[in-house]
Amino acid sequence: MNPPATASATPGAPSETRAAPHPSELDWFRGAVPYIAAHRGRTMVIALAGEAALAPEFPELMRDIAKLHALGVRVVLVYGVRPQIEARLAERGLTPQYAEGLRVTDAPALEAVLDAVGRLRLQIEGLLSRSLGQPGTGNARLRVASGNFVTARPLGVRGGVDFHYTGEVRGVDTEALRNLLDREQVALVSPLGYSPTGEVFNLSGEDVATQVAIALNADKLIFLTEAGVLRDPQHGVLGQLTVPAAERLLAESDDLPEELANHLKSAIDACRQREMRVHLVDRHDDGGLLIELFTRQGIGTLVSREPLERLRQATIDDVGGIHALLQPLEAEGILVHRAREHLELEIERFQVLDADGLIIGTAALYPFGEEAAEIACLALHADYRGSGRGDRLLAAMESLAREQGARQLFVLTTRTAQWFQERGYTTGRVDDLPPERRAHYNQARNSRVYTKRLQP
Ligand SMILES: CC(C)(COP(=O)(O)OP(=O)(O)OC[C@H]1O[C@@H](n2cnc3c(N)ncnc32)[C@H](O)[C@@H]1OP(=O)(O)O)[C@@H](O)C(=O)NCCC(=O)NCCS
Repeated sequence: MNPPATASATPGAPSETRAAPHPSELDWFRGAVPYIAAHRGRTMVIALAGEAALAPEFPELMRDIAKLHALGVRVVLVYGVRPQIEARLAERGLTPQYAEGLRVTDAPALEAVLDAVGRLRLQIEGLLSRSLGQPGTGNARLRVASGNFVTARPLGVRGGVDFHYTGEVRGVDTEALRNLLDREQVALVSPLGYSPTGEVFNLSGEDVATQVAIALNADKLIFLTEAGVLRDPQHGVLGQLTVPAAERLLAESDDLPEELANHLKSAIDACRQREMRVHLVDRHDDGGLLIELFTRQGIGTLVSREPLERLRQATIDDVGGIHALLQPLEAEGILVHRAREHLELEIERFQVLDADGLIIGTAALYPFGEEAAEIACLALHADYRGSGRGDRLLAAMESLAREQGARQLFVLTTRTAQWFQERGYTTGRVDDLPPERRAHYNQARNSRVYTKRLQP
């Protein structure tokens, strides 16, 4: 237990009574820990629309972003200013002009843009700075840096309309952004771009966020949406979409709000160019960003190039995840204890089931001689059992064994015998084990041996 930072024990003073944390809080925290580890050091570009800054919950949202920073996430925050520009134009008696869904930024409109960007930038910097010392941010110092990170070119004249100072992203100064992130600063990126000749252009926040995420090769691009979430009439919120599914959705739904359709197009573009996850999270959900990133079920929609889970060869970076997965099963006596160092030495024997950076399943294959191999450490996180993943892992290990020339597979198990039997494994004897494995057979554990002949 951590003592309260300021309390000191006074002899004879009545002891402070403290309520134990509610079990659900404890569960929530335990569930979040693997995600905290998985997101540390990752680069996330978070895009919010100007509307978010007008909402009373905006300071809370900024505190949540500060918490991400405190947890070691490399945060790039990109903001839009559409309603702020409208308000400034209205104050000046000017009518906003649009063409092809984009603002036409003439000289007076550019003044309104610069004014709106400057003010919102100061507001965000102030709120993020004020989040220092707030619960959840610890003593982490939060430095915010803004700058001329984006170069732009004018849209020019399109369909006979001169867009004046409306531009599009031409390049991103990734070196400057990476330097800031390396120095543990939050990078704040405005929807302004600069031309080499010193002109300033008004850009779409959406475009800036997408291009910055692509240029930085970010791990995640997160759109905090104004128009809610993507829904499926049968199943509620659409939790995950692959790029082809996102394309189908765009082609087939005629009632998709324009904002969500734009986010989907950006997500498809970003996922095509980089191996990145794009999240759409409703900005109105209190704590939505944290729920999306630190819980298994999430709250928004995740778009990715590949299906979210993939089975892959383990690397040394997976040792912590595999260890965390195996530990409870070792404590229950279901699996034999393996020290971390042991895992490090044998990591090339392991395959992992990776769900967006979280290790949810693993299995190892140990060859013995030319023709035999043992499947060991087959395990899934308890939340992910009972939906065929065990079968998938086993099938993958069997085909790996086949590729390596094995003809005879065996497993040693104390409690999962039936599961293997149902999958074609038959009872064997300790004497059937290859001699070098037999020499290490643990008599006290008394595991049963199951074998399977592999068809070439
Ligand atoms: C064994 C394990 C990998 C199976 O993964 P899974 O994703 O749950 O498996 P599947 O979804 O492919 O199959 C689930 C079926 O297996 C059954 N099953 C799960 N564990 C079982 C066990 N120990 N004995 C018998 N059947 C079992 C389930 O009841 C379910 O059957 P049903 O579909 O008839 O209800 C997983 O349960 C696990 O990680 N268990 C703890 C670790 C372990 O025992 N590893 C084996 C070490 S040798």
